[in-house]
Amino acid sequence: MAYSKKHSFLLISTLLMILQLQFSSTNAAIKGGYWYSDSDLAVSDIDPSYFTHLFCAFADLDSNTNQVTISSTHAASFSTFTETIQSKSNSVKTLLSIGGGGGGPTLAQKFANMASQASTRKSFIDSSIRLARNNNFHGLDLDWQYPSSDAEMTNFGLLIKEWRAAVAAESRSSDKPELLLSAAVGGSDQITPLKYYPGQDVANNLDWVNVMTYDLYISDINPTQTQPPAPLKNPTGQFSADEGITKWVGLGVPKSKLALGLPFYGYKWSLADPNKHRIHDKATQGLGAVKYKDIKNDGAQIVYNSTYAQNYCFKGTDWYGYDDTQSISAKVAYAKQNGLFGYFAWHIEQDNNWALSQAG
Ligand SMILES: *[C@@H]1O[C@H](CO)[C@@H](O)[C@H](O)[C@H]1NC(C)=O
Repeated sequence: MAYSKKHSFLLISTLLMILQLQFSSTNAAIKGGYWYSDSDLAVSDIDPSYFTHLFCAFADLDSNTNQVTISSTHAASFSTFTETIQSKSNSVKTLLSIGGGGGGPTLAQKFANMASQASTRKSFIDSSIRLARNNNFHGLDLDWQYPSSDAEMTNFGLLIKEWRAAVAAESRSSDKPELLLSAAVGGSDQITPLKYYPGQDVANNLDWVNVMTYDLYISDINPTQTQPPAPLKNPTGQFSADEGITKWVGLGVPKSKLALGLPFYGYKWSLADPNKHRIHDKATQGLGAVKYKDIKNDGAQIVYNSTYAQNYCFKGTDWYGYDDTQSISAKVAYAKQNGLFGYFAWHIEQDNNWALSQAG
């Protein structure tokens, strides 16, 4: 024998290591998508083959009982969500998302109140687990937008710790696989010294977090200048997806638990001069958010700016900063190269024939 046992062992473990490296640098564990129940897309029209995880959004928080509820208008589609998805792609996991950005400060206050006491946290936790099981979801996703003080962050930490203990106990008693637990959390601009998430609690108790690395520069707030709404990198300003990920790593959450947010929409501005149509050129008006599929690029000139990894398009004085297939591909490549857990889209109905969902 030319090789000793030790040599062949070394050879095999080196090969395994190379394989593992290759695998982790080319695959993302999660390709997630939020399905928003108030959008036009029927669950039966979702093509789940582009995703590993689908989030059914949103369940509500009842401020009287502190229980999670599903509104009667959504009861039928939520209760059949998993079955409908799995009839097409049976490996896709589904999570019930609770909360969301639509409720504004009122909803944020309901979460803050619920999380402030052990008894109300227990109502939330027990009802969420019951709803997940009764409706056949594989997991739960907390969308509290946003805990916004030290005290609320501490309570957020207590909530997810008790949530994890409860799903572990439930799994033992039901003999079912433990429910997945994730949360949608602030990206770059939402993390300030006054609003540091409890990174250790997140790392110890959630399977991963969806980092909402979008809405960083929006036309409602910056009406006088065109902007890259969700830049991957930003050499001229503070906020970017990369900066958000770096902050999360700084909070003590490993990259393997971070999913990068991909917005399937952009923001519209009115240009001051139709011949000056670059990022940061003068605008006269901010015209709000527009779905990717509604961005009128018919005859519009589309540009990809690799400095920010943002697309924009313009026609006359109409100007849209948004994510197109090029910027999505750049972000997906970033997520893979940096060993992130993966990426997710908000929200899939805004896509145009799955063009963004299959990019990357
Ligand atoms: C991206 O846009 C900025 C601002 O308009 C500009 O300075 C930069 O040259 C552009 N980058 C590329 C690669 O075109």
